[in-house]
Amino acid sequence: MASSSSPSNSGSNILNQLTATTTTRTVSPQLSIAPITTPAHLASLRRLNSLLLPVHYPELFYREILTDADAAAVSRLSWWDHICVGGIRGKVEDIDSEGRSSGGSEAEGGKRKVRVYIMTLGVLSPFRGVGVGGKLMEWLLNGGDGRGKDGREWEVVEVYAHVWEANDEALEWYRRRGFVVEENVVHGYYRKLRPNGAKVVRWINDRERSIVMMS
Ligand SMILES: CC(C)(COP(=O)(O)OP(=O)(O)OC[C@H]1O[C@@H](n2cnc3c(N)ncnc32)[C@H](O)[C@@H]1OP(=O)(O)O)[C@@H](O)C(=O)NCCC(=O)NCCS
Repeated sequence: MASSSSPSNSGSNILNQLTATTTTRTVSPQLSIAPITTPAHLASLRRLNSLLLPVHYPELFYREILTDADAAAVSRLSWWDHICVGGIRGKVEDIDSEGRSSGGSEAEGGKRKVRVYIMTLGVLSPFRGVGVGGKLMEWLLNGGDGRGKDGREWEVVEVYAHVWEANDEALEWYRRRGFVVEENVVHGYYRKLRPNGAKVVRWINDRERSIVMMS
């Protein structure tokens, strides 16, 4: 995350890199994702969310990432060199064999079976379209850290999020990553927006999908 480039050069360098990565579609080596482990990281995520999202999140939402190993295992910041350009904050829910929330249930091989709720996901607008959000999502769909508070390996069976009903771009972005956009609108989800509804986007892993299709 530290960078040796001077502030005066870094702006044009970054623009050149963004152009290059857009045309080649390879993710720049200057992009990395890293765990959220310090109060300064929390401050970076807080800044991103307040810039990008229409919802205010309480202090606990941030602090939990440092105190709850489950939350930490599904949350990350994206860095372009030393600049924090994106972040994802997830929440882990244990699920039972019927998919309901539960005190904990095992997947095949004794793994913990979990669902992840994406509470926030955002990328600074000048850094969109170069794979920042995609890299965060790919990491999450591959299981995040792979285990949480009890140290047991988990299987991420499902990932879901609420997206503003009028945010066609984001809905499409989720669709292209294998999410299904549910028909129903959750009215009143966004108090500050008009329209005020959210759509649920949901991804189910291949193994789980084939189990559901067979049953
Ligand atoms: C939705 C959001 C997170 C997407 O983030 P992003 O960083 O722009 O996403 P990506 O760059 O990975 O993907 C966007 C497009 O960039 C293009 N792209 C360009 N270079 C790329 C590269 N190197 N790798 C991958 N994609 C690349 C692709 O066309 C991709 O579209 P695709 O869906 O066809 O693959 C971002 O637009 C955002 O923060 N929006 C505001 C907040 C919000 O709406 N959050 C979602 C609700 S929770």
